[in-house]
Amino acid sequence: MIKLIKKVLGVVAASALVVGGLSGCATTSSEGGLIGVSMPTQSSTRWISDGDNIKSTLEAAGYEVDLQYAEDDIPTQVTQLEGMLTKGAKALIIAAIDGTQLTDVLQAAKDANVPVISYDRLIRDSANVDYYATFDNFKVGVQQATSMLVGMGVYASEDSTSADGANAAGPWNVELFAGSPDDNNATFFFNGAMSVLQPLIDSGVLVVKSGQTDFETVATLRWDGAVAQKRMEDILVGSYNDGSKVNGVLSPYDGLSRGIIAALTDAGYSAGTDMPTIVGQDAEVLSVKAMIANEQYSTIFKDTRELAKVASDMAIALLKGETPETNDTTTYDNGVKVVPSYLLTPYIVTLDNYESLLIDSGYIKAEDLG
Ligand code: GAL
Repeated sequence: MIKLIKKVLGVVAASALVVGGLSGCATTSSEGGLIGVSMPTQSSTRWISDGDNIKSTLEAAGYEVDLQYAEDDIPTQVTQLEGMLTKGAKALIIAAIDGTQLTDVLQAAKDANVPVISYDRLIRDSANVDYYATFDNFKVGVQQATSMLVGMGVYASEDSTSADGANAAGPWNVELFAGSPDDNNATFFFNGAMSVLQPLIDSGVLVVKSGQTDFETVATLRWDGAVAQKRMEDILVGSYNDGSKVNGVLSPYDGLSRGIIAALTDAGYSAGTDMPTIVGQDAEVLSVKAMIANEQYSTIFKDTRELAKVASDMAIALLKGETPETNDTTTYDNGVKVVPSYLLTPYIVTLDNYESLLIDSGYIKAEDLG
């Protein structure tokens, strides 16, 4: 009996050693401490990649990561952030759902001496945002409008700055969509695009038959493709029931573009004949497929692997007491302060360059495009 007890105790002691050893390992690999990463939604593939890329970068640098998705629900995002602070997060990386709704939880972060990095979308109305990692969002809008004009033949090339293409004279019918009004990026994209389009609307080359041209009217809450689809349907019924056609659609995001394409297809437009020139953003697999099928003309590629790296490096620098690298300290005023930013470069993607930009770089696997 005593022998048996000794044997059992021996096994227990041995397993305790193993467990202790393992947890010892775990402690070593996350010795930098916990970093909270709060992403808006899993409904778009880009945010899943963003989250995964930040997590793996931080883990490789020896940090533990609490990655959470809030499924586009603002109170959920706030609760998740509170939970990260309770768990002892030493830094937060946040892509906000509504950039104006995090003031209280960011005050709690400040009180706990936890630095905050705003990821891709600027967090507004709070002094407690330390750094911002994003792309040149105004440029994204300029690229979207430019690309639409090239696709329509109004511009001869992506370098054009005036109507110099084969179809320069017009008039051409275009409709405008913007992103979510609570996402600071949406205004930047729209303003960038309108800096290109407004002169052509003023000169009559472009006509917005719906008359819907102001940001509030064309914005799409939560970047919801179904909302864009419905608005496109309403515009087609309301403004194009006289046999006239839409020639171009400014869409700021691939998820909206797919809704817009669905509305146009339902109304009888078809790829390769009368489908308008439709642009987008994010180089989502489904939308690159739509480009290959001639439904969508272009998208904007923002390498979110680079963004994840920049934001992760910012957090690591702050936790080491170093100053993160920035390249813009004037553009992003969040209503309380200008947030020091690092802006990455966006690229226009068409059928001509998608293989080199997206596939050769490993951003999308060729087999995923079927
Ligand atoms: C924006 C982002 C875009 C797109 C959009 C919808 O904030 O900059 O790239 O992802 O959200 O998710």
